[in-house]
Amino acid sequence: MKRLPLRTTFAVAAAATALVAAGVPTTAAVPATPAALAGPDISVTNTAAHLDQLQAIATANGGNRATGRPGYLASVNWVKSKLDAAGYTTTVQQFSTSSGTSYNLVAEWPAGDANHVVMTGGHLDSVSAGPGINDNGTGSAGILETALAWAASGQVPRNRVKFAFWGAEEQGLLGSKNYMANLPTAEKDKIELYLNFDMIGSPNPGYFVYDDNAAGNGARDDLTSYFDSVGVPWEYIDVQGRSDHAAFRTYGIPTAGTYTGAEEYKTAAQAQKWGGTANAPFDPCYHASCDTRANVNTTALDRNIDAIGHMVWSYAQKTYGTTLPPTGENLVKNPSFESGAVSWTGTSGAITTNTGRPARTGTWKAWLGGNGRTTTENITQSVAIPASATTAALSFWVRIDTAESGSTVYDTTKVQVVSGTTTSTLGTYSNANATGNYVQKTLDVSSYKGKTVSVKFLTNEDASLQTSFVVDDVSLTTG
Ligand code: PHE
Ligand code: ZN
Ligand code: ZN
Ligand code: CA
Repeated sequence: MKRLPLRTTFAVAAAATALVAAGVPTTAAVPATPAALAGPDISVTNTAAHLDQLQAIATANGGNRATGRPGYLASVNWVKSKLDAAGYTTTVQQFSTSSGTSYNLVAEWPAGDANHVVMTGGHLDSVSAGPGINDNGTGSAGILETALAWAASGQVPRNRVKFAFWGAEEQGLLGSKNYMANLPTAEKDKIELYLNFDMIGSPNPGYFVYDDNAAGNGARDDLTSYFDSVGVPWEYIDVQGRSDHAAFRTYGIPTAGTYTGAEEYKTAAQAQKWGGTANAPFDPCYHASCDTRANVNTTALDRNIDAIGHMVWSYAQKTYGTTLPPTGENLVKNPSFESGAVSWTGTSGAITTNTGRPARTGTWKAWLGGNGRTTTENITQSVAIPASATTAALSFWVRIDTAESGSTVYDTTKVQVVSGTTTSTLGTYSNANATGNYVQKTLDVSSYKGKTVSVKFLTNEDASLQTSFVVDDVSLTTG
């Protein structure tokens, strides 16, 4: 959407006046029997392991992960390697600061309408005084784990999902400012929401939700509803320009985020509500050398990462006038095999121009079996079936000939759909179905809408007498 910059001026970080908006009715009514809103359980075990890794990086690099120091680039490279391995398209943006070179890392999930971007970020740098495990290892690790869980979920998002790890926040929000300053206006206009997470595991935690209530921004309320649903009392906080959402909010992009507190003191009333120590800082190690792996409250971290997961899952699928993928298009790549063995994995040599069997169209086809001895062969392709589909059909032509006789099944080809760890066989064809002619088969795969699945043709031949299953012209189309 197009938008005008907000005419907001931000008080600089020093103006930490009334961080917790005074006088605002902030405490949510907690439902008697909270029912958690839909969303994934982001693994706190995995997130804690990411914190261990960030601590190890700091320890190996002079005790910090600060801008211009080797521990920062090591952090970027490690997070990038995890995201690359999960299938993200990552970009590293270099910029210079008076403290040295810094980098932003942005990861984009390669699906969803690129005209509608939902971005989740936090800063990856620490101050030079310490390893920065609560500030902001917690936000970084939680965002990383959510990104990995998103990739593993196999969902097809409506919107383009991005995750950002900012550099040089501690020097004055430089990374996020740099990103927005260099992003063309047309690209800024595509960002529907920016979610920020900076310090989400404070040792004496509060549960704060950024009080950003710009027009059209329902994200703040989605966060508070989420905390209500899991029985976590929360308060609004006016974070002003104190973290990386500021560069987005200045441009008029809706922003939201959570925070568990820094140098401010927990009041007696807050200690009553949240537990912990009254009249003491939320994070006594804020910007200090003791902001180590030990400086994190696991419960606060667990609750906040599940809030991140809830927001990413729901905003990934939110309708922003999203252009839905066109129906009727074949989602199978290289469907007639005419590009050879590309886009398909499985048994090498199965995709062939061998004239021992004819292709239905062109010269290439997949010839499975035909060996006359015990063999297992397959061809497989991953296909993203849009959530917006009402119908989805897998269709293909198969030509079966055999040296077997009679109606006993000896050799088979199964057509399977693999979704996550579950394999379902939708059709089985055998020597008993041999006609020597191409026959078209159509299977309903509408139950897999919104999933990325593997379509698999799996052939098993027994010890003697060949059966050839020749597959051509595969399609998966939605309506
Ligand atoms: N951005 C601050 C820092 O990194 C922490 C903070 C986050 C403060 C959110 C207020 C709100 O030091
Ligand atoms: Zn900080
Ligand atoms: Zn921070
Ligand atoms: Ca062909």
